[in-house]
Amino acid sequence: MAAPVIAVDPLYTDAGDAERLVDLAHRFGRYRIYGEDEHIDLDIGRGLFPRHDSVQHFLRTGGARGPGADVATLAARTSYFREEYAYDGAEHIGGVESFLHNPGLLRAAVDLYDRPIVEPAIAFANLMVPGQELAVHTDVPEFRGASRRNVPQWLLVVMHHSGLFDPWRLRIATGIAYFRDGEGGALRYWPHGPDGAPVVHPVRANTAVVLDTDSVFHAVDPVAPGTEAPATGAGATLAAGPGGRWALARPDGEVVGRYDWDDLRFSVSWKAYCFVDEAERDAWRHHTDDLTIDAITRRLVADLVERELVEPDVAHDRELGLLLIDTYVRYPAAA
Ligand SMILES: [Fe+2]
Repeated sequence: MAAPVIAVDPLYTDAGDAERLVDLAHRFGRYRIYGEDEHIDLDIGRGLFPRHDSVQHFLRTGGARGPGADVATLAARTSYFREEYAYDGAEHIGGVESFLHNPGLLRAAVDLYDRPIVEPAIAFANLMVPGQELAVHTDVPEFRGASRRNVPQWLLVVMHHSGLFDPWRLRIATGIAYFRDGEGGALRYWPHGPDGAPVVHPVRANTAVVLDTDSVFHAVDPVAPGTEAPATGAGATLAAGPGGRWALARPDGEVVGRYDWDDLRFSVSWKAYCFVDEAERDAWRHHTDDLTIDAITRRLVADLVERELVEPDVAHDRELGLLLIDTYVRYPAAA
């Protein structure tokens, strides 16, 4: 059965509200490369990248454009920019409220899981420059007691794909909203699982699409695939400048790319927790039924032992992390 995907069209009944969100994106001003500030390391998988599963798949396959590019080029293609407009329900910039509580997104989230209680939590912007793409992945899921604050992201992904922690998993509805029509940068997703054919969802202004991105593999097709994004290395920023021009700068301030707003791919993602009833919501809110790291690792190792892949006293190290990824996270075959 195909995973449900719900279109919200229009996102705002007043198109002026969509324009105001674009103004907000400019007002926010400065965007950093995604993923540079979060890194939790445990003995299991010590030294792996936060999203080792996705990075490994991207390096092996070469992403949407296939094999052949060197590592520096691949890195530049996926070093896109992200900032949070709201987190944990708290607004980081004025004007995001009407997006966080958008009625169309809320309705779609209720329908997605058939769960009546929806708690919007996060809104974040993704900005990509020409030449960039977003590698195939599922999003970082969350469980009661286990989130990206205390557990490595790759391990949360392993937990979900293993199916061993479903009673603790939070159902998160993700909406991806677009603010202009675009060629390139379409959402590609695999509603029939990694063995099925992908579906391409075009970018259209004032629309959104709501789905379970924690379970459904997805990617963003290259923006202007004939071009390459400049290599910046860590710490680069993309910032709004005078005259509506955007500057891509290295940490030392050297500008390596200048863009008009219309050159960039801009989307805003929305995440909401969806609960069956108040009891389930309260268990999450008050931490009355939380997993512990110890319980998580014990359960995963016990499953690997059952599969005759390790001995019960296996070392909790980098190799065990790689084995967990290879055992449980099955990516779509290369395009
Ligand atoms: Fe995603």
